[in-house]
Amino acid sequence: MYSEKDIQEIKNRINIVDLASQYTSLKSSGRRLRGLCPFHTEKTPSFYIDPEKQLYHCFGCGAGGDIFDFVMDMEKMSFNEAVEYLADRAGVTLTRISGKPKFSEREEVLKSLERATELYRIYLLKSPEGKKAIEYLLGRNITLSSIKEFEIGLSPSDEKIITKKLISEGFKEKHLIESGIAIKTSHGLIDRFRGRIIFPIRDIKNNVVGFGGRQFLSGDPKYLNTPETNFFKKSSLLYNLNRAKKYIAESNKVIIVEGYTDVIALHQAGIPFVVATLGTALTDIHLNILSRFTENIYLAFDSDAAGQKAAERGIELIPKSTKLNIKVIIVPEGKDPAEFVSHYGREKAREIIEKLILEAETLEDFVLTKRLSEFDITNPKEKRAAAEKVAEILKLIDDPIIREEYIKKYANYLSVEESLLRSKIKQSAWYNINRRSVSNSEHSFNRGKDSIEEAERHFFKLLFSDYEKRVKKATEILKPEYFEDDILKLIFSAIIQDSKKFSNVQLLIDKLRLELGEEAVRNISEIFISESSFEDDERIFDEIIVYLKERFVRKRIAELKMKIFEAESRGDIKTAQSCLVEIQKLAESLRKNS
Ligand code: UTP
Ligand code: MN
Repeated sequence: MYSEKDIQEIKNRINIVDLASQYTSLKSSGRRLRGLCPFHTEKTPSFYIDPEKQLYHCFGCGAGGDIFDFVMDMEKMSFNEAVEYLADRAGVTLTRISGKPKFSEREEVLKSLERATELYRIYLLKSPEGKKAIEYLLGRNITLSSIKEFEIGLSPSDEKIITKKLISEGFKEKHLIESGIAIKTSHGLIDRFRGRIIFPIRDIKNNVVGFGGRQFLSGDPKYLNTPETNFFKKSSLLYNLNRAKKYIAESNKVIIVEGYTDVIALHQAGIPFVVATLGTALTDIHLNILSRFTENIYLAFDSDAAGQKAAERGIELIPKSTKLNIKVIIVPEGKDPAEFVSHYGREKAREIIEKLILEAETLEDFVLTKRLSEFDITNPKEKRAAAEKVAEILKLIDDPIIREEYIKKYANYLSVEESLLRSKIKQSAWYNINRRSVSNSEHSFNRGKDSIEEAERHFFKLLFSDYEKRVKKATEILKPEYFEDDILKLIFSAIIQDSKKFSNVQLLIDKLRLELGEEAVRNISEIFISESSFEDDERIFDEIIVYLKERFVRKRIAELKMKIFEAESRGDIKTAQSCLVEIQKLAESLRKNS
C-alpha cells in the first residue's frame, strides 16, 4: 500500500482533464466538460468531467471516479497498479507502507490461483480419481465440453499434492494461504479443497479469484468455497459474469440463479445470460454491477422454495425495482434449474424458460400475491389486515406512476376504494418533487446508480453543489442512521465528524475507497458530478431534509410500537412506558418540523 501523502501528490500533479483528453475530446458545458464516453460506444456525449472536483462520470454506462478509477477502468489495472502507473507519469517516487498487499503480492496471489486452476483441470482429465469425478459430472448431465468451457477441475484427495507442486514451482507459502488454496495446520500446509470437484470463479476482469469445491463421494459440507479474501468478496462477485456479460448485453437480460450447476445446465440448454450468487444473498452491489449491462433482471426461484422465503427476500429488492425491471421466474419440476433441465431435456427446457421469461411477473406482483395468499379476504377483519399489508409493500415503491398502477390493481383485487389504499400510503412532499424531476433530469437516463434511493441521492447532490452554505443546516438536523444506503451513511458520518476536511471531495473519495472498496467509488461519482436540475434548489433541499428525518422518525415509532406490544404481552410495563415516552418525544419533534 502507498502513503496518503504520495497519493495526494499524484493527484496534485495530474489533472483529470489532461488524462481523459488523451482518450476523448472534451468540450466545455457550463462548469463541466463533456465528451463521448471512452468506456462505451455512444453517439451523443454523456461523459462529464468536473475539473474543480477532479472527478468524471458517464451517465450512459455509469463509469465514474477520480484519476485512479479512470486508469483502473481504462488500463484494466488494480488500484496499486494505477497508483504506480500515474506516479511514474507524474514523477512521484513512491514509498511503500505495509498494509494491504502490494502490487507484486497481488500479482503473485492471482498467478497462484491461475496456476492452481490449471493443475485442478489437468488432474480431473488425467488421473484415475478424475475418471470417477468425470463419471459423476456426466451422470449429472454436465457435458465434456462444459467441463472444458467452465474449466471444471478436481483437487486430489491426497492432502498436499497441489500445495507441494505450487511451492516447488516457486510460489510462496503466504501467497498460497492468502489465495485460499492452502490452509495452515500443525503438520504444515495442506490443500483446502482435498477431493472436491472444483468450479473456478473468475471476476469480471477474468481473473480467477476463488473456487467453489463440491464433494462428490461423501463428506460435508456439500460445497466448500474460498473464504472471504482481498480478492474474493462474495457480496460483489457473480459466478459466470465474465462469460455471460456479452450475452447479457446482447439479449438485454440476465437470469440470476443460486447454484453453479444451475448456470452450467442453463448454458447447455442454450441460455447463456445466466449468473449465480455464491451461496449468499443478492446485494445492491450485485445489482449495480449487473445494471451496467441490462436493467432486465430475472430472479429464478426454485418451485419448492418459492414460498415464504423467496417472497421475504424479494421485499428487500422492491425499492430497487423502480429503476431496474426485476421479474421473477418460478422454475417448475424438481428443485432447481439444473434438475429442471435434466427433467425436460435441453430443447424443451429452453422453450419453457423462454416462455417463462415472457410471462414472468414483476417482483412487486410476486411479492404482493404471495403475501395476499395468506389472507382470507372474504373475512372482513382479514381483508383489513390484507389491505394494510398491501399498503405497506406499495409504500416501498418510490416512483409515483408505477405505484399508482399497483394501487389500482390491488384495490380492485381486494375490492376496496383506491383512495383507501392511497390514504394508507401517506404521500410525502418528496414524491411530488421526484415526479417533477424524473422527466427532465439527466439521471433518469442513467441505469447504473439508481438503486440508491432518490431522496438520499438528491440530498447529497444538492449538498455538494453548495456545500459551504448547506452543510451546517444538514449536520444540525440529520444523523447518519437516517440514510439507508451504506455508502451514503459513511459519507454523512465523515461529514459530521469533520465537515471542513470533507468539503474536499477528493478526501471523501479516498476514505470511501479505503473503507468500502473501489466499487463504492464508482457507485457514487454521479452524485458529485451532477448539476441540480431544479430552479428552487433551496426549498427542495429543506424539504428533503425534513423528509429524511420524518422517514426515520416514523420508522422508529413503528419499531417502538412493536416493542410496546411485545413488552405488554410479557407484562413488562416498565419497558412499555419508556417506549411510550420515546414515542411522545419523537412525535413532538415531528410536529416541530411542520
Ligand atoms: P445448492 O445446494 O442448490 O447447490 O446450493 P447446487 O449448486 O444446486 O449444487 P448441486 O446441483 O447440488 O451440485 C446453491 C449454492 O449455494 C452454495 C453454492 O454456491 C451453491 O452453488 N452452497 C451450497 C454453499 O456455499 N455451501 C453448501 O454447502 C451448499
Ligand atoms: Mn441447487
